[in-house]
Amino acid sequence: MNSIKNTVTNTLSPTITNMIRMDHTHVLEAFHQYEIDSSPQTKKALVNTACLALEFHSQLEEEIFYPVMRTLATDTATVDKSIPEHNEMRRLIGELRAMEPTDPRYDQTFMQLMRDVMHHVADEETTLLPDAERLLSDRLGELGAQMTKRRLQLAAPRAREIAVNTIRGFPTSSMLFAAGALIAGTYFAKRTFEGQSRHRRT
Ligand SMILES: [Fe+2]
Ligand SMILES: [Fe+2]
Repeated sequence: MNSIKNTVTNTLSPTITNMIRMDHTHVLEAFHQYEIDSSPQTKKALVNTACLALEFHSQLEEEIFYPVMRTLATDTATVDKSIPEHNEMRRLIGELRAMEPTDPRYDQTFMQLMRDVMHHVADEETTLLPDAERLLSDRLGELGAQMTKRRLQLAAPRAREIAVNTIRGFPTSSMLFAAGALIAGTYFAKRTFEGQSRHRRT
């Protein structure tokens, strides 16, 4: 029974590595919408979107992905340096939240955060994710489902804030993409739960 249930979950969920890539794209998309001459309201909404997505993403990696990689990977250097890198991002997020977008240091602080993010993302996508796909091939779906469930727990109390930032920060044409990570997570979780309950009924 359990193995059939796991197969259903694994088939319907995005893999954990694809969810991580999707999160990275979501943060960088918010950054790509940010222009130096954007209005303060738009800047704040884009920064809030990127910061909240980064906070969820870092917590999900630390709770679910990194511990698994630490037990499997022969070289844990990338995982080890990831935690202090997340903490440095949290420090910059704290600075941005304490500033108004009209502050002369706002643009520069956001650029510094995105520079750190791009470096961190490059390491994960060229080292950690390929390692995970080699070492965890049969668990990628199960871990993806675990990450989706936890994401929904984290996002539910912040749903209104996420919606407001998306509406203020993104032009209509890219709004669907901006909300993509959250919507996709919800969609796949719904499919997974429906699949499981359908299976239980039969
Ligand atoms: Fe990370
Ligand atoms: Fe990441």
